Amino acid sequence: MKVTVIGSGYVGLVTGACLADVGNDVLCLDIDPAKIALLEAGGICIYEPGLDEIIKKNVAAGRLNFTTDVKRAVEFGTLQLIAVGTPPDEDGSADLQYVLGAARNIGKYMTDYKVVVDKSTVPVGTATKVEAVIRAELDRRSADIEFSVVSNPEFLKEGVAIEDFMRPDRIVIGSDDPNAIHIMRTLYAPFQRKHDRLLIMDSRSAELTKYAANAMLATRISFMNELALLSEKLGTDIELVRQGIGSDMRIGWHFLYPGCGYGGSCFPKDIQALLRTAAAVGGELKVLTAVEQANERQKSVLVDKVVARFGPDLTGLTFALWGLAFKPDTDDMREAPSRVIIAALLRLGAKVVAYDPAAIDEARRVFSHHDGQLSYAAHPMVALDDSDALIIATEWKEFRSPDFDAIKARLRNPVIFDGRNIFDLHDDGLKGIEYFGIGRASRATELTIERVA
Ligand code: UDX
Repeated sequence: MKVTVIGSGYVGLVTGACLADVGNDVLCLDIDPAKIALLEAGGICIYEPGLDEIIKKNVAAGRLNFTTDVKRAVEFGTLQLIAVGTPPDEDGSADLQYVLGAARNIGKYMTDYKVVVDKSTVPVGTATKVEAVIRAELDRRSADIEFSVVSNPEFLKEGVAIEDFMRPDRIVIGSDDPNAIHIMRTLYAPFQRKHDRLLIMDSRSAELTKYAANAMLATRISFMNELALLSEKLGTDIELVRQGIGSDMRIGWHFLYPGCGYGGSCFPKDIQALLRTAAAVGGELKVLTAVEQANERQKSVLVDKVVARFGPDLTGLTFALWGLAFKPDTDDMREAPSRVIIAALLRLGAKVVAYDPAAIDEARRVFSHHDGQLSYAAHPMVALDDSDALIIATEWKEFRSPDFDAIKARLRNPVIFDGRNIFDLHDDGLKGIEYFGIGRASRATELTIERVA
């Protein structure tokens, strides 16, 4: 099939590359000539495991092409996939100007039947707006050309997006047009595994499904984070509680990990947008409001622990920070807890030496005005030299089995604040280290209790 992808950002590139990989002819459009030039030269501006290879392979095979030419892009694909950003506007609602701009261009240049597919995360009712914009453009041209608008939200997770696209849990198609549904079924046929993963519904329900999924996942995390805070007060271990409840099939294991807060480009933005959507129809999502508040507080819990241990004035102290990205396997720092942690430590007078396997360049951009107090290490162990304590904000695999003796030797004070509970509390390596996790007794406290007993 001939597919145009409008917007060559994260979702657009992954979608375009994966659709080309199963044999479609794909043309990716972007308004940014520098981005398109880089892609044409075999480069890529985002970090996503496996994406690089799959783009190169399909460009070489001639199935994946890039352009800044809007007219050419609209004429090219029977399928027009809209994968542009929906950033929050001033009040937190999703800003639809790029989505509707793409719709306008489709209406302006289309010459034959199109299936217009909304892949961007968009509020309920957007498919109707997209349809109206295209129809208005066609009317302006006095052109009578058929088209259909389909909602097809993506559920890609950064870091495993290729896997998510190639082997989806479900494919949500919002449409009531049998012809469009047939085309979407054909498009996704190579990604259906043993059983049918297509869920066909009306476009409004499809649009809400995306927000509901992210809101549900964020709710689980915030709820676990609240239980973790309670655990600290009660002297219980949230990690044991997590295992105790996760084994209940109705609860399950995923998204039950307490930590120093969720971040990323989706959860915070989508929760804001869903709250606005609810307010606009006179609804109130009390639970979700609390989820958001709990997460804001959670991003500061590590700093609270640092202050409790070192006092409110951190002048003269240096903290090694492992993990800048909002989660492992990405260089994305959007809404990352590390941003809140670094800003607070610097405000309290501390110096920070940060390490991240992928996000240091991004951090330099984000914190460009803090050169003096904030520096970066090329290796996690080097970050520890002359530091007073270690703070872990992201659970990169390479942090999980460190040389604890080297940590003790390099840190001025053997203190670890673990924002992702990546160590086993009973690991012998932690002996001699003051260890503060999330929702569990600190290792020092536990040793005291053992001694008393
Ligand atoms: C999310 C959704 O999972 C995906 O379906 C949607 O398309 C986009 O938004 P992503 O933003 O890539 O994907 O990140 P995800 O892996 O979901 O993690 C989000 C945040 O939650 C991260 O900051 C992560 O550290 C945190 N998290 C996740 C927890 O704190 N605990 C958990 O148990 C799981």
